[in-house]
Amino acid sequence: MRENNKKYYEPLEQMMAVRHQYMAKIIKKTFKTSIYEFFHKCKILDIGCGTGEFINNYYELGSICTGIDINNNFKLKNKKNFNLVNSDIFEFLKNNKKRYDIIFMYEFLEHLGTKEKKILLKKLPSILNSNGIIFISTLSKNLISRFFSINIAENLLNLLPKNTHDHNLYLSPSDLQTLLNKNGLSIHNIEGISYNPLIKSFKLSKIDLINYFATIKN
Ligand SMILES: C[S@@+](CC[C@H](N)C(=O)[O-])C[C@H]1O[C@@H](n2cnc3c(N)ncnc32)[C@H](O)[C@@H]1O
Repeated sequence: MRENNKKYYEPLEQMMAVRHQYMAKIIKKTFKTSIYEFFHKCKILDIGCGTGEFINNYYELGSICTGIDINNNFKLKNKKNFNLVNSDIFEFLKNNKKRYDIIFMYEFLEHLGTKEKKILLKKLPSILNSNGIIFISTLSKNLISRFFSINIAENLLNLLPKNTHDHNLYLSPSDLQTLLNKNGLSIHNIEGISYNPLIKSFKLSKIDLINYFATIKN
């Protein structure tokens, strides 16, 4: 299974810094506080958490963390206030009664079919606290994103295992907005992400045609 391939999670590790930068910017602007204050005692759910290393950064800041992933590639052990659960998110949500202050869905939606996306987005308001916030990153749907994420990243530069992505599952910001509106959620912010393969580094960008962040609120 490709998710067991080290190469699959490597570029995601390189994304950690830009995600932190993005969230810090949004939190400062929206809540007038620092990311360090904000993540103290927050209840976070990380959907499709991968190795669990990303959510662990916010456990370190004092948050109560739950990560869910259908594949068990977890690199960390569970402890008080830090739980990684090996489950399909849809199975997990069937029994979950908890609500969260923050939901992460980083590089996740592009792995779900259209029907699954609709089911998940419909479910989100019932697990998000009233002043909660959802941070996502995903791939936009157009020919440019297909060219860079599949032809260049997978096939030419070999940055990711082949067939990691299926362009049919990508989601443009406007398609995301349409899906969210149906469920009483809205996009608070969109920001593009660019990648420099020479220095293996992601940064925030005004161009949201390929990879982009979105902040979603009730
Ligand atoms: C591209 S990875 C992103 C990992 C992590 N969010 C990150 O950005 O570092 C997508 C993850 O979603 C997980 N996944 C895919 N479908 C899932 C599902 N139905 N339920 C839970 N996890 C799922 C995969 O196993 C994989 O670890």
